[in-house]
Amino acid sequence: MNTLPLAGQKAWVYGGTSGIGLACARALAEAGATVIVAGRSAERVAEALRQLPAGTVGESVDAGDEAALRAAYARHGAFRHLVVSIGGTSAVGPYRSLDEPALRKTFEGKFWPFQRTTMAALPHLADGSITWVTGAAARAAIPGMAAMAAGNGALHAMVGPLARELAPVRVNAVSPGFIDTPYWDRALPDDARQRTYQAMAEIVPVRRVGTPEDIAAAVLLCASNSFITGAVLDVDGGRRLV
Ligand SMILES: NC(=O)c1ccc[n+]([C@@H]2O[C@H](COP(=O)([O-])OP(=O)(O)OC[C@H]3O[C@@H](n4cnc5c(N)ncnc54)[C@H](OP(=O)(O)O)[C@@H]3O)[C@@H](O)[C@H]2O)c1
Repeated sequence: MNTLPLAGQKAWVYGGTSGIGLACARALAEAGATVIVAGRSAERVAEALRQLPAGTVGESVDAGDEAALRAAYARHGAFRHLVVSIGGTSAVGPYRSLDEPALRKTFEGKFWPFQRTTMAALPHLADGSITWVTGAAARAAIPGMAAMAAGNGALHAMVGPLARELAPVRVNAVSPGFIDTPYWDRALPDDARQRTYQAMAEIVPVRRVGTPEDIAAAVLLCASNSFITGAVLDVDGGRRLV
């Protein structure tokens, strides 16, 4: 039997209060897991809990604060699945326009929060899975996205070694393409966002932008399939190819 039952298992979802993480939390909870959603804003945590199945709990914790992370994990004890879908900030623009602070900011925005949430989890995670939500920029060759490629690519590079080192915990990444989430609501005004969605749909082989549920389905697969480890699963509608 390669599909593990998730019913009754405890799962943490960092970035679980919005977009891809919120969809992952919903998918895990609907599969029977007891989900803990985490994000910085207490208000967003409360709003997420209103939308998620009963029994889901929340933690307002900043992945930049190691002591707060350790305390939050200690409050909930042993668990089986960790999903990290923290929204990062990345330097975007021609390489010639970037400088060291911009590159460091990219790593501070995503790479380090992913490391802190994962490292602090390990004492409580003896078996189960870790799934990182990375990004297609790492595998595509998109001008102006070298920094984002580096940040996500660094996470991809760690998946294999960690899958061997942390076994029997399975370690995977799901690498999304362009996904319609609140991130884009904040990043672009309405009309520019619609134009970007349309332009993106025209260039990718599947001819549409992705949904948070597209990514959540892949995260659920990584959490529940006992034969998947060390994998970087591209769920990008072919974005990395164009
Ligand atoms: N959307 C896309 O097109 C796309 C494409 C490729 C990859 N991705 C990746 O997918 C992941 C999720 O993106 P999304 O679009 O779903 O973003 P989103 O809707 O903006 O959600 C981001 C989540 O991360 C939380 N978060 C941010 N900083 C945090 C911190 N320091 N500590 C704890 N939680 C924090 C946010 O809550 P608070 O703000 O309250 O902390 C929120 O719950 C990101 O890693 C992103 O790079 C997204």
